[in-house]
Amino acid sequence: MRIRVLGSAAGGGFPQWNCNCPRCRDARSGRLAGECRTQSSIAVSVDNEHWLLINASPDIRAQILATPELQPGRALRDTGIAAVLLMDSQIDHVTGLLMLRESAQPLQIYCSRRVEEDLRTGFPILEILSHYCGTQVHALPLDGEALEVGGVPGLRITPVPLTSKAPPYSPHRQDPQPGDNVGLLLEGQRTGGTAFYAPGLGEMGPHLHAWMDRADVLLVDGTTWTDDEMQRTVDGRKTARDMGHLPQHGPGGMIEQLQRYARARRILIHINNTNPILDPESAERRQLEGEGIEVSHDGMVIDL
Ligand code: MLT
Ligand code: MN
Ligand code: ZN
Repeated sequence: MRIRVLGSAAGGGFPQWNCNCPRCRDARSGRLAGECRTQSSIAVSVDNEHWLLINASPDIRAQILATPELQPGRALRDTGIAAVLLMDSQIDHVTGLLMLRESAQPLQIYCSRRVEEDLRTGFPILEILSHYCGTQVHALPLDGEALEVGGVPGLRITPVPLTSKAPPYSPHRQDPQPGDNVGLLLEGQRTGGTAFYAPGLGEMGPHLHAWMDRADVLLVDGTTWTDDEMQRTVDGRKTARDMGHLPQHGPGGMIEQLQRYARARRILIHINNTNPILDPESAERRQLEGEGIEVSHDGMVIDL
């Protein structure tokens, strides 16, 4: 199984268009130019030809241009993307669907019923696409059943409901339910390699151990270093935990939680532009390296 990181940043990307926090300034002035990142998305394949796009970021066009496998050119209109799986209905994970409207076939979309409802009401992308390529929506099971994705041979996926909140425009915002946000256990049937993917992971309770213990690779929430980072750095109103993201530093934080899984390759993704780990020379990055935790980057390939 091959995982391609298309976008390793959180919503807004790095640098964010209007942000002049120390990290964004350094990215724009060149000191951290090599660290620029597009918004949260990965693609997964077993045969390196048929790909499942997991989350469709607003940066999808640039991400496809940077990834020749996703544009194999076998016909006048062609794509390597056989289907799209949406883990939640957040702007950074679904807006790219609009950029795929030229598709020659209806887009094959896998998401929970809750996410589908958001995308027909609060952010009605599925209704809008019915005027273009159309969509065919497949409901994700939430009971621990695995599924296979049509057109992506050899890949098995188990969605795992996570504790989180639906986005602000969701009619379910005040009524969190399983399915607002899922993690995924990805298994390549040929090699038996497994990965657990969760770019938004607010809580790491015992309900996740059984899934995460099985994974050779953990590709998990790297949004912020501290809980109040966005408040302190850019005057944000919300803490990381308010937004359903577990900060890395401190008691109960991601670094501590990941110690249980030291057997696995542990990689952070969905990194917010305020996070000091974006600077490879930072003390925070050195601390991660000391723990054996990696930071993903756009274009990263994970074979397993
Ligand atoms: C999140 O991950 O919390 C959201 O994507 C935030 C956002 O894009 O506004
Ligand atoms: Mn996000
Ligand atoms: Zn910034």
